[in-house]
Amino acid sequence: MDKNYENKLWALIYEQYDKSSDRGELEYVFYLNEIKDIKGKVLEIACGTGSKFLKYLENGVDIYGFDISKEMLEILYQKGFEKGFSNIKEIITQQNMANFSYPFKFSKILIPARSFLHLTTQEDQINALKNIYDHLEDKGQLILNFFKPNLKSLVTKTEEYDFFEEFINPNNNEKIKLSFKNQVDLLKQIIAIDWKFETEGKEYHSEMKVRWIYKPEFELLLKLTGFNNVKVYGNFDKTPVTKESNELIWIAEK
Ligand SMILES: C[S@@+](CC[C@H](N)C(=O)[O-])C[C@H]1O[C@@H](n2cnc3c(N)ncnc32)[C@H](O)[C@@H]1O
Repeated sequence: MDKNYENKLWALIYEQYDKSSDRGELEYVFYLNEIKDIKGKVLEIACGTGSKFLKYLENGVDIYGFDISKEMLEILYQKGFEKGFSNIKEIITQQNMANFSYPFKFSKILIPARSFLHLTTQEDQINALKNIYDHLEDKGQLILNFFKPNLKSLVTKTEEYDFFEEFINPNNNEKIKLSFKNQVDLLKQIIAIDWKFETEGKEYHSEMKVRWIYKPEFELLLKLTGFNNVKVYGNFDKTPVTKESNELIWIAEK
């Protein structure tokens, strides 16, 4: 089984998957508003196939990015070259958010699309946040979002695969049916998702692990790693977190 997005099938369908909910577009607009008029450099951590990254680049943002998955990055490089960004391989690299490195600092560091949750140990979370802090200019901002844990859905057991959606392989127009089954570890706060891809009678499994984070837990992690002026919202229009809201959207300052 492959891990997270480190496989070709995920890379092939990721853009269609991203468009299958409203969240991708809401995130894109929210982050664009935060970065479009600033002077310094911006970093998108875990930029994937560049569904947002390339649009920020087209908007003139001085943006850099990295991702751990070479399969996702191959799609990004191909799209970047097609759009005429000949320096795409200089501004996008393959790195891990737990220990990435740049010789310069950023005025804003973004982690959209809930990607921070792929760090499944406290050690990796703390290392990543400390490293982000070190890579920010003074008063620079970390901006990220992830889902607000919903205890009821976490304790609901799924024995069978749930159908997610059907996608089209852009290379040969074959249908790809995507289903999933979750295994929840309440003690470690980890959801292990077994994604099942079915295409032309063949079945392929890809494992993904996400560690959910509670609001007070992340407040503590930010405090521990030196961040100040922490703001948290429940929606991408910056309305407050409520019992009903599903997302936690953070802006924290160095
Ligand atoms: C949900 S996708 C988000 C992609 C992109 N940010 C977007 O909005 O379209 C999550 C991405 O996180 C990447 N990822 C997971 N763990 C990572 C890590 N430790 N370091 C860097 N990237 C990671 C995956 O490879 C994947 O591309």
